[in-house]
Amino acid sequence: MNLEYLSGFGNEFASEALPGALPVGQNSPQQAPYGLYTELFSGTAFTMVRSEARRTWLYRIQPSANHPAFSKLERQLAGGPLGAVTPNRLRWNPLEIPAEPTDFIDGLVGMVANSGSEKPSGISIHHYCANRSMERVFFNADGELLIVPEQGRLRIATELGVLDVEPLEIVVLPRGLKFRVELLDAQARGYVAENHGAPLRLPDLGPIGSNGLANPRDFLTPVAHYEDLKQPTTLVQKFLGELWACELDHSPLNVVAWHGNNVPYKYDLRRFNTLGTVSFDHPDPSIFTVLTSPTSVHGLANLDFVIFPPRWMVAENTFRPPWFHRNLMNEYMGLIQGAYDAKAEGFLPGGASLHSCMSAHGPDGETCTKAINVELAPHKIDNTMAFMFETSQVLRPTRFALDCPQLQPAYDACWASLPVTFNPNRR
Ligand SMILES: [Fe+2]
Repeated sequence: MNLEYLSGFGNEFASEALPGALPVGQNSPQQAPYGLYTELFSGTAFTMVRSEARRTWLYRIQPSANHPAFSKLERQLAGGPLGAVTPNRLRWNPLEIPAEPTDFIDGLVGMVANSGSEKPSGISIHHYCANRSMERVFFNADGELLIVPEQGRLRIATELGVLDVEPLEIVVLPRGLKFRVELLDAQARGYVAENHGAPLRLPDLGPIGSNGLANPRDFLTPVAHYEDLKQPTTLVQKFLGELWACELDHSPLNVVAWHGNNVPYKYDLRRFNTLGTVSFDHPDPSIFTVLTSPTSVHGLANLDFVIFPPRWMVAENTFRPPWFHRNLMNEYMGLIQGAYDAKAEGFLPGGASLHSCMSAHGPDGETCTKAINVELAPHKIDNTMAFMFETSQVLRPTRFALDCPQLQPAYDACWASLPVTFNPNRR
């Protein structure tokens, strides 16, 4: 299957899988072409300012309304409810991919969250481990999904078309969009940020100018593709954190044409135009922001998706790793490949760390000692891709995240070996 994509971010896209399936000059004619039903898919309130508004018109074989009642599923999301509050720095080894058949939904494991799913802000973070394709179709009523694969390629069949995504690419699925995750490899593992707040968008560039970081044309949205299948299909939704399902007699991925800007998209992180200092000092990591979900406070993010890609380090007379710091923001980090330059060991691809509001962190002892003493020359950090889900509200781990064997018992020890080098007689 050779997939086609539309390029751009925030565009009013239009796509039709059959010629003339899109009505011309109006959204809801008395009779849509080909006998299709018209449906409006809104991602924001109707009255949102135009620059914020997201909606897509769908022309489909059957309207989504044609479904029986949903029943609560016996098997709910793994991870369980939130656990005890802790200010401690936490780090996890990668979760193991289960041996029993596990699709993307059953493979989702809740790790941390800072909001109830009923709130219009905050995020929940899940990991996923799967070893078989979904046969059911899923939608999330609780928020937008940002999927970050770490292992295994995914084919994501959505109402608006099909996206293939592999490690080092990400995909964003709007709240409520129906989709099915198929595995293109034997197993798959990765991270999911569920964004309950304002939809993700590109950050403003300020003095950087009109180019740089993630460029709009590198975001890819699928073209229309529909399934005209009259076969029993289970439709699962997550609603206020719980999984509910109903049985359809047809595929709900039956949109023949659509136009709008409430769309799924993917982005290749290798296309990120990484900027940094060419003089001295370590810039704030906000220069690595790929996407952001703002709050009503200007500059305060509900969610920033930040990456640490391969890059040249050239700063003169500079402590080059991330400085020691304590932040207002809460940082959940993951690693897609390679090593992260602030940690010598213990932070593995598929693993994660949590540094909450005002918790002190930075390079570990080994990295720090090396960075202070190394003879500085231009050097490239290569074969690496770490990332951060950064959020303004404190993240609480789930009970699973606090109790699982992957939680490292002695993370604090990585800073214990920092030697005292203070000498009042040596300036
Ligand atoms: Fe940090």
